[in-house]
Amino acid sequence: MSRAVVLARHPEGAVTEQDFAVVEVADSDLPGGFFRTRNRVISLDAGFRQWMTEGAGDNYLTGMQIGDPVQSIVLGEVIESDHPDYPLGTMVSARTAWEEQSVLDGSDLCSPLEVANDVPLHQYMGILGPTGMTAWIGLFEIGQPGPGETVVVSAAGGAVGTVVGQLAKAEGCRVIGLTSTRDKADWLQGDVGYDAVIDRETQPDLGGALREACPDGVDIFFDNVGGEALDTVMSQLREQARLVLCGAISQYESAVQPLHNSWELITKRARMEGFMFSDYFESFPKIAGDLQGRLQRGALKSFDAVYEGIDATPRAFCDMMHGASRGKCLVTLD
Ligand SMILES: NC(=O)c1ccc[n+]([C@@H]2O[C@H](COP(=O)([O-])OP(=O)(O)OC[C@H]3O[C@@H](n4cnc5c(N)ncnc54)[C@H](OP(=O)(O)O)[C@@H]3O)[C@@H](O)[C@H]2O)c1
Repeated sequence: MSRAVVLARHPEGAVTEQDFAVVEVADSDLPGGFFRTRNRVISLDAGFRQWMTEGAGDNYLTGMQIGDPVQSIVLGEVIESDHPDYPLGTMVSARTAWEEQSVLDGSDLCSPLEVANDVPLHQYMGILGPTGMTAWIGLFEIGQPGPGETVVVSAAGGAVGTVVGQLAKAEGCRVIGLTSTRDKADWLQGDVGYDAVIDRETQPDLGGALREACPDGVDIFFDNVGGEALDTVMSQLREQARLVLCGAISQYESAVQPLHNSWELITKRARMEGFMFSDYFESFPKIAGDLQGRLQRGALKSFDAVYEGIDATPRAFCDMMHGASRGKCLVTLD
C-alpha cells in the first residue's frame, strides 16, 4: 500500500485543504516497459491550480478530474524497473502526481537526475529544478536584461520571484519586487537582495508607489501575477521594454481582469511574450549547471519552505497559493 492525494472536489475561488483527500492506493503489478518510483520530493507549483478548476484543460494540459491524484512535478527513486534507461536506484524528475509511488514510462518531462551528495535533495525540485529553469528562461531568454536596467518582479517572495530577483541583480540591474506584506518586503530587501519592494499591505496604490520606485520607468517586467498589476506596470514602461509573461496567479482563483494600457506597448515599442519552461527541456542540464555554479560560488541562495509527509501536501499548496510560504514550497516524503 502507498498513499496519494486526490482531488476531492473542484476548487471554487480560493483553494482549500478540503478540496483534496489522502487515499490509500493498492500495490499493482508493473506493466512491461514501465518503472516504479518511491517519491522523495514533491514540488508545489502555482500553475497547477489552473487545471484544478471544473472544466479546465487546454492545449498544454488536461483538466484534473475528481478522484484523480493531483498533477505535480516530483522527484523519485526507481525501486522496480522494466525500462532500460531507468535502472534501480536512478533518481528521476517527472511530471506525475502528489503520490508516494508512481508508475512511469519515461515520458512527460521525465528525466534521470544526477544528484550531488553536497546538494540538499529538495533543491532539485526547486532552484535546480522547474523553479530555477522557469526563472532563468524567463529572465535570460525572454527578458534579456542589460546592466543598469530596471527590472520589476511580481510575486517577488515566491519560488520563481526569489530566483529572478537574484539573477537580475547579478546582471547589474536595479531590481524592484511586488509582494503582499511589509514583513515579506523587508525580508526580500534584507535577505534576498531586492533594491526596493512594494507591498500591497501598506502601499495599496501600486501606480503611485511604482512611479516613486522607478521614476524613469520599467525596462523589464517579470510578471507572475497578471491582471491589475500587469495593467499598472504596462502604463509605466520605458521604450523597448520587455514584459515577460510567466504566470497570472491573481486570475487563477478569481475573475479575469481587463487590461486597459496595451496602447503603451505600441508607443514604447515594447515586447510582451509568454513562455512555458517545458519548451526548453533540452536546455535544462545547461541551465542547471549554471545555477549550480552560482550556488557553489555563493552568488545565489535557495530560499525554501519544506513541509514533511504526504498529509502535509494540501496545506503546503494552500499556503503557497496564498502567500503564507516564502521562496520555494516543497514536500519531502522521507
Ligand atoms: N510559464 C511557466 O513555465 C511557469 C513555470 C512555473 C511557474 N509559473 C508561474 O509562476 C508564478 C509563480 O509560481 P510559483 O510556483 O513560483 O509560486 P510562488 O510564487 O511560490 O507562490 C505564489 C505567490 O503568488 C503571490 N500571490 C498569490 N495570490 C496573489 C494575488 N492575488 N495577487 C498577487 N500575488 C499573488 C503570493 O506571493 P506574495 O505574498 O509575494 O504576493 C504567493 O506566494 C505563477 O503564476 C506560476 O503559474 C510559470
